[in-house]
Amino acid sequence: MEKGATVFPFPVAVSCLFIIFILATSVSGSLFFNFYAASCPTAELIVRNSVSSSSSSDPSIPGKLLRLVFHDCFVEGCDASLMLLGNNTEQSDPANRSIGGFSVIESAKRVLEFLCPGTVSCADIIALAARDAVALTGGPMIQIPTGRRDGMVSVASNVRPNILDTSFTMDQMINRFSNKGLSLFDLVILSGAHTIGTAHCSSFRDRFQQDSKGKLTLIDKSLDSRYANELMKECPLSASPSVLVNNDPETSMVFDNQYYRNLVTNKGLFQSDSALLSDNRTRRLVEDLAKDQQFFFQSWGQSFLKLTTIGVKTGDEGEIRSFCASTNA
Ligand code: HEM
Repeated sequence: MEKGATVFPFPVAVSCLFIIFILATSVSGSLFFNFYAASCPTAELIVRNSVSSSSSSDPSIPGKLLRLVFHDCFVEGCDASLMLLGNNTEQSDPANRSIGGFSVIESAKRVLEFLCPGTVSCADIIALAARDAVALTGGPMIQIPTGRRDGMVSVASNVRPNILDTSFTMDQMINRFSNKGLSLFDLVILSGAHTIGTAHCSSFRDRFQQDSKGKLTLIDKSLDSRYANELMKECPLSASPSVLVNNDPETSMVFDNQYYRNLVTNKGLFQSDSALLSDNRTRRLVEDLAKDQQFFFQSWGQSFLKLTTIGVKTGDEGEIRSFCASTNA
């Protein structure tokens, strides 16, 4: 041993190593990678199985789960407040009308309550399920920390001040994202979620008009007219409000960088998508992402991690719900 080297008694050395281990694996306050390693070792596997079995019988599930985590995390933080049922809860706001995937979360929760009662939060199941939905559709599989706890508050009036609308300007979108600690870069990357999933005609129908002879007039000139014509056929004025259109007209079931390739050819479905190409602050990034899927996947990992750690409740905060649709009290 070197002269002058400090010798720690064994228990102190072990404690130091333990603290170093905790620091190395802890991200965002008290979330940890493999948080359930000891308390519920199969937690992540159960969620993955639930996502993959439900998606094989209903291919719309991955898109639903990915949107679910966004709408959950932007209101009250990632705390499953969006799952709570009742008078005037977040689900009752029209912005959440078409949110789905709740049954997948509940079914994973049922199995987890059976195997490890009172241990795995609904908030973690939502984040893990969205992570798995991306991997299942061909996107990157990323490790995310867990340890979120479930919130007790869910109020419809909290939705509009936090969620984004397709009519927003870039400044409004940047503002909403920065309120959640997310950057302009995160806005562009996370919007890439629109590479999967579907939308109702009402979400983009105001971008063009159809006269009595069926001829198209573009209201939003940033939309490719051939694409607008296709959309008009899928969404005629007579269309039922339940008609759905693929967000990505090319590879709707695959999580890839096609969303950005659509944007550079003026085929962004929502006005808020097209804005990412029109705006000088984001155009270059969109073009780079359209050329480089690997760059998108690496960036996705970072931005998704930030999204899924917004305002998390940990430690003594909140609770671990028994049923995701209601608080324990
Ligand atoms: C940046 C602002 C955003 C706006 C304005 C926006 C708006 C929308 C709208 C209007 C729909 C269609 C809803 C419908 O008609 O049923 C939709 C779908 C979707 N959004 Fe976004 N979104 C945004 C960002 C995000 C983010 C950050 C994510 C996830 C990380 C996301 C994931 C999705 C997914 C996966 C769908 C398809 C849902 C399904 O298939 O059921 N969106 N979005």
